[in-house]
Amino acid sequence: MISSLRGMNDILSDDYERFTYFIEIATNVAKRYGFHFIETPLLEETALFKRSVGESSDIVGKEMYQFIDKGENDVCLRPEGTAGVVRAFVQKKLDRAGGLHRFFYHGAMFRYERPQKGRLRQFHQFGVESFGEASVHEDATMIMMVSDILKTLGIGYRLQLNSLGDENCMPQYRTSLIKFIESMEDKICEDCQRRKTTNPIRVLDCKNQACQEMYKNAPKLVDNLCDGCSNDFTKLKKILENNEILYEIDTNLVRGLDYYSKTAFEFVSDNIGSQSAIAGGGRYDKLVEFLDGRATPAVGFAIGIERLMELIIMPENTRNGYYIGAMDTEAIDIVVELAQKKRKTEKTVIDYKVKNLQNHLKAADKVNAKYCAVIGSHEMKNKTVWIKNLEDKTEQIVEVKNF
Ligand code: HAM
Repeated sequence: MISSLRGMNDILSDDYERFTYFIEIATNVAKRYGFHFIETPLLEETALFKRSVGESSDIVGKEMYQFIDKGENDVCLRPEGTAGVVRAFVQKKLDRAGGLHRFFYHGAMFRYERPQKGRLRQFHQFGVESFGEASVHEDATMIMMVSDILKTLGIGYRLQLNSLGDENCMPQYRTSLIKFIESMEDKICEDCQRRKTTNPIRVLDCKNQACQEMYKNAPKLVDNLCDGCSNDFTKLKKILENNEILYEIDTNLVRGLDYYSKTAFEFVSDNIGSQSAIAGGGRYDKLVEFLDGRATPAVGFAIGIERLMELIIMPENTRNGYYIGAMDTEAIDIVVELAQKKRKTEKTVIDYKVKNLQNHLKAADKVNAKYCAVIGSHEMKNKTVWIKNLEDKTEQIVEVKNF
């Protein structure tokens, strides 16, 4: 038997119901906030992710599904959605058009990580990207969107917040952090030794317990922000407070992608095990320029759909539509005809197997139909359909022409 690849799941039955329910809720929220759908390819040039997510990140350094295609192009399956949306934004010259451009998307992402609960190699994200707005109000709006989506789904969360500074304050902070790292170089793990030269701030979210203990005394980003970043961060916290969004400051939250500046945030759940991040995002004001576009401020987030699956509270399943079946071989053609007619207005599930009434009623119940309609030899003779309303249990006989 051929099985699916490790870390790549099928989504069907109940999970599919949850999945599509999530997409429906998140899409409605995104549309209410004025965002438009965008679809970008699953496969992109590898250079796109190297330049945006960053060569020093684990995603690019260790986790890409990268290969040379038949035309000798170096390509890879997208590990995340932001880079592709920025590429499309620049390619379509929207950076030159000016104004605000707000997009949402959902789809599969691929990271060659070690699979475990909540960590897949093919997973799905719902994301939004907003271009053209430098005001920190937009950062707050991103956070409020995630909160809206999670609240509608009945999912509790903790919001972790940090500011990563910008080109004015980050270089100075980086220098003092490197000095701090050098002072304990012989004690830190191998990964951190490497990060010291590639991207020093990534040491702050090292998973090694011993490193974490040492970094407790490291200089903090939030204490080293320039006036602009500091004012924005204060303003962001105020807007969230005014809108009753609770947050925690996590000075070690640096995110695993290199394109962020200023606002960085993560939504975590305490009910899904060690892979607790259910959404993450932040501001990335330099990325459009970095991908050869005209300088454009931008901010966005992505929600990991699989991590929400067990947390989603579905609305009570209400019966709807028709189930239709034949109790006589001769009746199958007319049953097919009537199903086609009914489908113009109602969900209609058909069963081609000839069954007795009891079994049709059971099958209708199983697919959660509101009505069970059957035709047997008696109904054939009288040109009628027998229908039972499975909610109020009433029965009726209608003429075929009126069905
Ligand atoms: P990210 O934090 O890498 O951000 O991913 C967002 C979410 O995707 C995570 O919080 C998590 O729920 C889910 N996720 C990540 N990796 C896996 C995995 N291996 N298995 C299952 N779920 C996973 C980004 O991707 C950014 N592009 C977000 C963003 C958009 N920032 C600005 N705009």
